[in-house]
Amino acid sequence: MLNKEQKSIYPPQTIGIIGGGQLGRMLAISTRQMGYKVVVLEPDVNAPAKYFANEHIIANYTDKLALTKLAELSDVITTEFENVPAEAIEFLDKLKPVYPKANAILISQNRLKEKTFFNSLNIKTTQYYPIINIDDINNIDDSIFPAILKTTTMGYDGKGQIKVINKLELSDAFNKLNNCECILEKMLELNTEVSVIIARNNFETVAYPVIENIHKNGILDISIIPARVDNEIIATAKGYAEAIVTKLDYIGVLTIEFFISNDGEVYANEMAPRPHNSGHYSIDASLTSQFEQQLRSVCNLKLGDTSSHSCAVMMNILGNIYHIDNDLSPPNWGIILNKYANIKLHLYEKEQARTGRKMGHLTLLGNDLDNLITQAHEIKQLWEKR
Ligand SMILES: Nc1ncnc2c1ncn2[C@@H]1O[C@H](COP(=O)(O)OP(=O)(O)O)[C@@H](O)[C@H]1O
Ligand SMILES: [Mg+2]
Repeated sequence: MLNKEQKSIYPPQTIGIIGGGQLGRMLAISTRQMGYKVVVLEPDVNAPAKYFANEHIIANYTDKLALTKLAELSDVITTEFENVPAEAIEFLDKLKPVYPKANAILISQNRLKEKTFFNSLNIKTTQYYPIINIDDINNIDDSIFPAILKTTTMGYDGKGQIKVINKLELSDAFNKLNNCECILEKMLELNTEVSVIIARNNFETVAYPVIENIHKNGILDISIIPARVDNEIIATAKGYAEAIVTKLDYIGVLTIEFFISNDGEVYANEMAPRPHNSGHYSIDASLTSQFEQQLRSVCNLKLGDTSSHSCAVMMNILGNIYHIDNDLSPPNWGIILNKYANIKLHLYEKEQARTGRKMGHLTLLGNDLDNLITQAHEIKQLWEKR
């Protein structure tokens, strides 16, 4: 077995994190809370994780000197995003334990590899074709339209995706994406979207309750926990997640996004070898947050209890709400902070707001899910009115 030799790491040993965005920040917070030390490798001087790092190595992910320093300072290394260059992971792997391993990261970096991998485990995906060069368009069956053309790598929050309804639009879209390697996916009529967050270490696997996700313009808007879907769907999605981490011999936290069609079919969309935006609720509503769980799995500790002590609705706070009437000032937080006793505000200390940029999130907690959903709509209206 690949991971037989995984060592247990205890405080005050040091966790190295590649990447210093909001996921790195929230991982660093959990890590410092438990008395571990944190070293972050991240080129951006103002990255959100810097405030919670004992040391911030400001360098590119492929800088060998910086990678060597990260390895020297760390007892175990993990990542907060999937687009870490493969060469960086391979380089570090020779020096210190790195989890998750390169096999999972490399699959997650490429939508074609991801979908081929899901299908190899008999997990359904939407119909797709690789579009590597313009001639591939000739071999496509028209029944795939309406469809979405997506770059196979580097896409996130709906970026690098164009909807197309025929071959003419498809070839235009391929040009717009600079003829880079793409995947063409059939558009599914979605009933809902869900995600499963699952953690695994050397000796056990635990999954979180299934999360329901509502997207707006390709970006996660709201997550609802527990998901309002049938038990059969929950069992299928969790079964798929378990099959995926077992096949990968995975160590760490992994998230799988699923599409649920109107006839109740479960399709795997994509996976992320890390905690996920939809799992932010776990910081406030779960016995163990997804970030503490990542720490526990890469340190080979017993995995924490994933049950929730209340229902939750998580709302993303995007840069859009900082921009109303060209006013770049932040929203008046007092309006919501002084109105509700059941909300948890998380801001990531990003210096600049931009449309679509994730600036923070808000978690609403309580026992009545319908009330929380109504409250979320009320908060959106307050933001719009301000
Ligand atoms: N094949 C599809 N059918 C229907 N909706 C889709 C499809 N692909 C993407 N979407 C919508 O766009 C969102 C973002 O797409 P996704 O593939 O998850 O890329 P990203 O990496 O940007 O999250 C999805 O959550 C879903 O709402
Ligand atoms: Mg997605």
